[in-house]
Amino acid sequence: MTKEPSLSALQVMQDAPVIPVIVLHDVADAVPMARALVAGGIRMLEVTLRTKQALACIEAIARHVPEAVVGAGTVRTRADALAVSMVGARFAASPGYTQALGQACRDAGLALLPGVATGSDILYAMEDGFTELKFFPALQAGGVAILKAWNGPFFDARFCPTGGVTLQNAVEFLALPNVVCVGGSWMVPPEVLAQRDWARVTQLAKECQSLKN
Ligand code: 3PG
Repeated sequence: MTKEPSLSALQVMQDAPVIPVIVLHDVADAVPMARALVAGGIRMLEVTLRTKQALACIEAIARHVPEAVVGAGTVRTRADALAVSMVGARFAASPGYTQALGQACRDAGLALLPGVATGSDILYAMEDGFTELKFFPALQAGGVAILKAWNGPFFDARFCPTGGVTLQNAVEFLALPNVVCVGGSWMVPPEVLAQRDWARVTQLAKECQSLKN
């Protein structure tokens, strides 16, 4: 049975100019890191399923940081979609798209930003009703130039470029009419996480507010 998602992919994209892509190795870091980002004005948090601790981190944020909206990144399979929704993720981002994944997210009531890198990827995702898309890996797959080209044939698609995006080049992406927000890992760099420098995370998040979506 399909559940109505509690928020839409467009709402996920419109909340802030940047969706932080977060890799966590220690559950103890999840809550302070999420609070630090929220203090810097960023509420939509994408915790990637790339570590064994990712599900527990998502659960901790969902439970203890109600001001944040936690989502899961690197969602690749139906099992991933079910697992992340069980622990409280409200949205999912994927590095590619399959019909099974799209249906699984719908079944779980999860807003999905399907990953696309080619025209065919976009057609597959749009055929299944997804018009808010994660362009991944953005810089490597054509960057600003390909987004400009896509604005012709895919005028009704909206993108969140992710992969190689920085505070510096984000401005160029966000100036495009088909870009709503960008994704990036720079607000939670590994060395800052290792030092548990939450004030620095807040500062990096605040810097993103100068970007406009
Ligand atoms: C990733 O693959 O980790 C995300 O796309 C983020 O990429 P970035 O580290 O280049 O921001």
